Amino acid sequence: MVIKYVPYFPDPIEGQAILQNFNRTLKYKESGDIRKNLVRGMPLYEVENIESVGRSDSGNMVIRGECVSTCAYLKNKGIEVDLVYIDPPFASGADYAKTIYVRRNPRVAEVISKVKQELDDDEIKSFEEKMYGDVWDKEKYLNWMYENLIAIRSIMGETASIYVHIDWHIGHYVKILMDEIFGESNFINEIIWHYQSGGRPEDNYAKKHDTIYWYSKSSKYTFNSKDVGELRGDRKRNNMKRSIDENGKSYYSIMSNGKEYRYHDDEKITPDDVWDISHLQQQDPERVGYVTQKPEKLLERIICGSSNRGDIIADFFGGSGATASVASKNNRHFIHCDVGMNSIQITRDRLIEIEANFNIYEIKDGVNLYRNPIQTMDKIKSLIPGLINEDSVNEFWEGYFIDTKLGKVPIYVPNLMDSSSRILDEVLMSRILHYAIPELEFDVKKVVVYYIDITNKEEIEKFIKNDESNIIEIELRDLKDILDDVTIDDYVEYLIEVDKKKLIPDYLISINIFNSDRVQKKIDSFNLRSSQNNKKNDFKPIVLSESGLEMIEMISLDCTSLDGIWHSDSEIKIDNIGYTTFNGKATKKFWDGKITSEIRPLRMKIRNICGDESIIRLE
Ligand SMILES: C[S@@+](CC[C@H](N)C(=O)[O-])C[C@H]1O[C@@H](n2cnc3c(N)ncnc32)[C@H](O)[C@@H]1O
Repeated sequence: MVIKYVPYFPDPIEGQAILQNFNRTLKYKESGDIRKNLVRGMPLYEVENIESVGRSDSGNMVIRGECVSTCAYLKNKGIEVDLVYIDPPFASGADYAKTIYVRRNPRVAEVISKVKQELDDDEIKSFEEKMYGDVWDKEKYLNWMYENLIAIRSIMGETASIYVHIDWHIGHYVKILMDEIFGESNFINEIIWHYQSGGRPEDNYAKKHDTIYWYSKSSKYTFNSKDVGELRGDRKRNNMKRSIDENGKSYYSIMSNGKEYRYHDDEKITPDDVWDISHLQQQDPERVGYVTQKPEKLLERIICGSSNRGDIIADFFGGSGATASVASKNNRHFIHCDVGMNSIQITRDRLIEIEANFNIYEIKDGVNLYRNPIQTMDKIKSLIPGLINEDSVNEFWEGYFIDTKLGKVPIYVPNLMDSSSRILDEVLMSRILHYAIPELEFDVKKVVVYYIDITNKEEIEKFIKNDESNIIEIELRDLKDILDDVTIDDYVEYLIEVDKKKLIPDYLISINIFNSDRVQKKIDSFNLRSSQNNKKNDFKPIVLSESGLEMIEMISLDCTSLDGIWHSDSEIKIDNIGYTTFNGKATKKFWDGKITSEIRPLRMKIRNICGDESIIRLE
């Protein structure tokens, strides 16, 4: 539920420019949804601090929520950022998936380690899970982007810069939006990130670059040319013939008007705006298992070039946490935001490995009911009782169900990925009453409208009642109710032993049985699909052991408090191969099904391989 709306614009001077933006945006979309959203403000939701890692007063944040709701939260808190890098979905037409690796059974892993058998990668079983969708209608995308950029601008400090990473799919349109939002005079440069990875077609030049637009909030901005300077001699394109000077230094020279100009190889020069930085290779140790992960080298140049020590660097589409990681390594503060649970977990674990201090927050904006918006949408559709999803109803409606007395009952489901339809308000209700229902091509006596967030249920019901043109029944249903019924927590059987022989006793927890209904369902459907598609009949299904320990990705012990913010005092993470990372330090040891702690643990958190987390009180 929205607590209040936070204005996008701080003062009327900014509002002046925005009027033009409205005009342009209205051209993109006649209905004026964006205008409505901009006038209303950014929705501020309740925010929960769910975990604190290291020092709790670092100011560093990892936020699970949407870009706009995160900006509302920051603005309400009076937080301004000094540099923004975003790498939003590109409207590339692709769906991104995460590969989920079933871990080794600890008992088998022990045997493997004893006989020092070579690891056979094929033995590692994996399946895929949808992470986020990047399939967009161009207009929708630009409207969505517009709102995000306006929200981001509203929390940028006066001397802040923004780098927007985009590619050929939609980049040129985004540049126009940015000219409007930040002003053409604040456009500083267009950076071409040139890389070599990927295939090469026969019928076209290989597309090997992304574009990064750099704008500032005002004419004053930070640029540390020295910190990002390149040695002249390292430049790949510099193929001038070299000489050696009297001090033994290599240089090349140019004659102009009879004068010799010498250019030494060991001089630092400002890099140009075409950056040759290699993409991460498949086996690159920097890889953290996030498909769209960008290399730290790229972020290093942006962060070191456009911010100073102690500045706040924000990434509102943070993904694998590359920005947060580089910011932290270079003594900057960071704000990482993403809608996906997977991004938050990967970033958390990555930041723990570099010993960063930060807090994790969850914005209760309704988008994160399940692992990520796309999976929540899929889940919702599968849970609506009797839903028939057919093209016979136009695209506004999700489908219908059949009622013996009422016939076809159309069902409306908000799209969690589309901010303009997420909140059920009078404007959306009016659209349903005056456009969507009259456009239906069959007689209806009733429609069901699901909502994830509603301005005020009683007022909307009154609004429907007072609408004289409406003669059918409209039932409002809360989507969260159907999701609440289905999430069954994971089940664990464990044993706690205390080793009293030591001066300070060690607590040893052995996990004996772990069962995750959610993971099991994913595996069952993967097995079914794969066996149906397997023509050669040689498909080996994924079969889990009776103990189910292969479904565990991480265990964390909280020895500090029984409730509230999580403090991880001891944790073990099992990687795709089965090796463990203990309290952020990677080892080459297999997991033995146990976790220890020097302090008495009060709570245990177990993350399964799909990312769902369950907390068990150890009283
Ligand atoms: C291209 S990826 C970013 C990759 C990142 N730069 C990295 O190096 O890992 C885009 C990210 O945006 C997130 N995302 C999509 N829509 C979002 C929204 N409305 N608010 C916040 N994050 C969003 C996705 O979950 C995804 O992680």
